[in-house]
Amino acid sequence: MALEWTAAPGAARARVRSYRARGERVAFVPTMGALHEGHLSLVARARRNADRVVASIFVNPLQFNDPKDLRKYPRNLARDRALLGRAGVDLVFAPRAFYRKGHATQVVVSGLDRVLEGAHRPGHFTGVATVVAKLLHVIEPDQLWLGQKDAQQVAVIARMIADLDFPVRVRVAPTVRAKDGLALSSRNARLSESERAQAPALYRALRAGAQRLKRTHKAAAAERAMRGVLAEAKLLRVDYAALVDPATFTQPGRGARRGLLVVAARFPSARLIDNLPVRLGGAG
Ligand code: PAJ
Repeated sequence: MALEWTAAPGAARARVRSYRARGERVAFVPTMGALHEGHLSLVARARRNADRVVASIFVNPLQFNDPKDLRKYPRNLARDRALLGRAGVDLVFAPRAFYRKGHATQVVVSGLDRVLEGAHRPGHFTGVATVVAKLLHVIEPDQLWLGQKDAQQVAVIARMIADLDFPVRVRVAPTVRAKDGLALSSRNARLSESERAQAPALYRALRAGAQRLKRTHKAAAAERAMRGVLAEAKLLRVDYAALVDPATFTQPGRGARRGLLVVAARFPSARLIDNLPVRLGGAG
């Protein structure tokens, strides 16, 4: 079936309602375009788990705390369209200006918006929650597919969906990586050759942290191991390297079973994040 493409919220909503009127289950994959294998893996999983797949492409200005990052964000709609068509997407919603003049409403997921990524990117998660709330109202999907790559984003959106009773199920797909371990990201395209060579240190640090945690059950030891690997790779601008609770992004409580190692580092050309889920069993 041919890929349908619309910039109009009303047309997108009407099309999705026509799917649902036929009893078809609808999966939704929101993106900011500049698609890579990570995005396409979400589409593939959505395809296997629903009758219809809807994707959106919108570079959401509200979630960019750094205007330079917004200006430099890669855009390639023609290529994205071809990729989504081949991946079996039914409908793409790509609004040109999604916010009306005078837009004044924001969705604040408090707490989560203040720690780690939230602390380093003020306003970012409010921008994410606001645009995802709007997108969910337009598309009205059964499933929302998100990537583990942006684990704190998953926590923010899951919190918003629970708190505001959105009738949608969140599904999370694992992080797709390059052969050397670097998590795929649209921002990787901005890295210089030498930065690209350093970048796999983020994943190496996460794995070293996981190993140390397994042996010592100590969060502080895991964090030291991560920082050690990053320093060795001469990655000096580390925003954080920590073990957190995957729902709250604060220190895991006593007896917590699931943890998440998270890392963020700044290169001159781009800022990269990554994470690795870990079992805890008594880490403190
Ligand atoms: P974007 O960065 O384009 O990512 C779209 C989706 O792809 C997100 O759910 C993200 O976690 C997932 N993704 C990115 N890299 C991935 C990888 N290497 N492996 C698996 N999944 C990956 O995230 C956003 O856009 C925006 O914040 C958005 C949710 C669309 C709201 O504007």
